[in-house]
Amino acid sequence: MKRIVILASGSGSNAENIISFFGDSTEVEVSAVLTNKSTAGVLERCNRLNIPAFYFNKKAFTGSDTVIRLLKSLKPDLIVLAGFLWKVPISIIAVFPNQIINIHPALLPKYGGKGMYGEKVHQAVKENMETETGITIHYVNENYDEGAIIFQAKTELTIHDSAETIANKVHQLEYEHFPVVIEKLLFPNGEKK
Ligand code: GAR
Repeated sequence: MKRIVILASGSGSNAENIISFFGDSTEVEVSAVLTNKSTAGVLERCNRLNIPAFYFNKKAFTGSDTVIRLLKSLKPDLIVLAGFLWKVPISIIAVFPNQIINIHPALLPKYGGKGMYGEKVHQAVKENMETETGITIHYVNENYDEGAIIFQAKTELTIHDSAETIANKVHQLEYEHFPVVIEKLLFPNGEKK
């Protein structure tokens, strides 16, 4: 069994989509969801979907080895950041080289970096009257949104799009592609039955 651990800070619609995608799989499981926000919507989803969920604070993440020990105990093949808003410390990246990926709701390197997340990204895309936006799935390195790009998909925008409709278009791309990209990373030679 390949094991995925998801880190999420918010609503968790991507986490739920990934959990559902692998729900019937005999080869891949979402072992747990970890969150840095005790009120995150993702916790309610985990409760409903019967997925173990863990909350951790800043000290556990960056000031001690608590989260590293938890992650090690979960033995993940892949750690998936799905709307996770803290920078991952180098101490964690070093333990899981090329095993941590993130999804960003724009076409990096545009609209990336500290403070660029969720609605803020879509508002900036709207303000700049972009004619397209999209998603980027990338490896996580020590800088926000700068790790090697694995996959991008685009969607066209019109002058009539609002930040909200842009967000909807981007979410649709995320739901369509993120689980498929995860599956390809877990089975790089297509060895899945
Ligand atoms: C997603 O759109 C994801 O791309 C974005 O947060 C949203 C989380 O939604 N991530 C970032 O902005 C990271 N910088 P969700 O909680 O419903 O999955």
